[in-house]
Amino acid sequence: MNKAIQTSKQLSGNTPRNLRVTSSQNQRIELYTKYSKKLTINPDLTSSIVSFQANKKIPLYRWFKYKEAFSSEFVHYILDRFKTTTKTPLRVLDPFAGVGTTLTTASKLGCEATGIELLPVGVASIRARFLAHEVKFRSFQYHFNRLRGFALDLSSSNGYKFPHLRITEMAFSKETEDALSAYATFLDGIKNKETRYLFWFACLSVLFALLNFQVSQIFFREIPFL
Ligand SMILES: C[S@@+](CC[C@H](N)C(=O)[O-])C[C@H]1O[C@@H](n2cnc3c(N)ncnc32)[C@H](O)[C@@H]1O
Repeated sequence: MNKAIQTSKQLSGNTPRNLRVTSSQNQRIELYTKYSKKLTINPDLTSSIVSFQANKKIPLYRWFKYKEAFSSEFVHYILDRFKTTTKTPLRVLDPFAGVGTTLTTASKLGCEATGIELLPVGVASIRARFLAHEVKFRSFQYHFNRLRGFALDLSSSNGYKFPHLRITEMAFSKETEDALSAYATFLDGIKNKETRYLFWFACLSVLFALLNFQVSQIFFREIPFL
């Protein structure tokens, strides 16, 4: 018997006094009970394949650490299984697209991919991943070298004023704000809009990694990026 079913038995059987079973847990138990005979464990699907972990090795996918994302390897695995059972081209709909791992992986494999995502930051990431294919490597490299020689402080901010919202006012130190303003000036110097978007997204990914979980939840739900 697998661990999950044992847990559901514990919950539905002698419930310890300190364990409250909520209605959503009850619904989960009912679902397990109903389908337990149909559940099988696939040993190929380890947690490092199913979760975001595997994306940490993939260029661009590793930029934005979104723990809720599937791994590209997992999506590949699932789509390969479908591919062998049908000759018609696959179409993929991901109504909870997150940062777009399913969409971009499916699209790379030649599927038609459509997605819906609630969070603006997810949509920004999906856009960056698709645009990355259109960015010329030489243009990206040129601006990467330009950035290396760019002082990320007040001296390069060129009078740029960070467009604060109420919730961002206490979010960074003055030094970080100056660095962000300088980075905005650096972005202004990139004519190609795809390259500019990718550099903008790189900065967003760094910010997201630095913010603590609670702040990032508020920050990214409230800020319209597009
Ligand atoms: C587990 S993540 C999706 C992972 C994604 N399928 C992938 O390929 O990596 C779930 C996403 O659903 C989004 N979401 C939740 N409720 C939603 C809704 N009502 N409409 C659209 N997106 C929603 C969340 O913002 C979150 O990014």
